[in-house]
Amino acid sequence: MAIRKVGVVGCGLMGSGIAQVSAQAGFPTTVREVSQPVLDKGLGAIRKFLQGGVDKGKLAAADMEKTLANLKGTTELKDFVECDLVIEAVSEDLTLKRELFGALDGVCRPDAIFASNTSSLSITELSTFTRHPERLIGLHFFNPVPLMKLVEVVKTLGSAPAVVQDASEWCRAIGKTVVTVGDSTGFVVNRLLVPYMLDAIRVYEQGLASRDDIDQAMKLGCGYPMGPLLLGDYVGLDTTYSIARIMFDEFREPRFAPPPLLKRMVLAGRHGRKTGRGFYDWSTNPPS
Ligand code: CAA
Repeated sequence: MAIRKVGVVGCGLMGSGIAQVSAQAGFPTTVREVSQPVLDKGLGAIRKFLQGGVDKGKLAAADMEKTLANLKGTTELKDFVECDLVIEAVSEDLTLKRELFGALDGVCRPDAIFASNTSSLSITELSTFTRHPERLIGLHFFNPVPLMKLVEVVKTLGSAPAVVQDASEWCRAIGKTVVTVGDSTGFVVNRLLVPYMLDAIRVYEQGLASRDDIDQAMKLGCGYPMGPLLLGDYVGLDTTYSIARIMFDEFREPRFAPPPLLKRMVLAGRHGRKTGRGFYDWSTNPPS
C-alpha cells in the first residue's frame, strides 16, 4: 500500500465523512478546517456518527476510540507535510481550489497524490492548479460517506496510471467499491442522477402529483431507498442547483437545466435539510 498517511481539506458534510472512513480503516488522517469552531463542528459530527454506530451495535466502543485516535484536526495546511494522499472537499469554488492546490504544492512532497471530491468541476482544470498535474485525480464520494459504498475514481488524459492504481487501492482499503470514469462533467452518477432529480421537480412544479406521491412512487415503484424530492433535500437544493447549472453550461441540453422552482427555492433559502426547510420541513417534523 503506497498510501499510509492521509490528509483531508474541509470537515463539512463530505470532508468529515471521508476523514472518518479513512481513520476508521486505520489510516492516520489529518483533517483541516479554516477555523477552530468550524473544525469542532465537523469533528463533533464524526463523533456523533460513531456514537450512533456504537448505540446501534454496529461498532465496538474500542473501535470508536481507535478511529478517533487516528484522527487529527488542524487549521494549518502545513500539517499535511507527511501525507501520501490529500483529498480536498472544500466548496465548489474554482478560485478557492486554485489557491488551495497552489498552497499544497508548497507544503507536500512532490510524490504526494492530490485528489478532489468535486462533483461537477473539471478534474483536468483542477490539475492545472498544481505543479504535478499527472498526480491529481478525482475521488468522488457519496453522501452519507460512511454508508455509501461507491467512489468514482476520475482520471484525466494526463493522469499517471500508478496514481490511479494507488488511489483505487486506498479506496478499496477503506471498504469502498471503485468505478473508474473519465473526466466529463457529472462523471457517471450525477450525469444520470441529476436529470432524474430535476425531472422530479418539474413533475411537482407542473402539479402532476403531490410531493409525497412523487416520492412514494419512486420509492415503492422502483425500490429506491428514498424518493427524488427527499433526496434533493438531503443532498442540498443549493448543491443540486449549482451542479445542474454547471452541467447545463457544459452540455447545453434541456434535461440539465434547473427548473424555475428549484432556483426560487434556493433564492428563498430553502436549501433542504441543512437550512431546516426544502421540499420538506426538517425543523419540526423531519421526514422518515
Ligand atoms: N454507524 C454504523 N452504521 C449505521 C449508522 C451509524 N451511525 N447509521 C446507520 N447505520 C446503518 C444501519 O444500521 C443500516 O444498516 P443495515 O442495512 O445493516 O441494517 C444502514 O446503515 C442504513 O441505515 P438506516 O436504516 O438508519 O437508514 P436507511 O435505511 O433509511 O438508509 C440511507 C439511509 C443510506 C441514507 C438511504 O436512505 C439511502 O441510501 N439514501 C439514498 C442516498 C443517496 O442516494 N446518496 C447519494 C446522493 S448523491 C451524492 O452524494 C453525489 C453528489 O455529488 C451530489
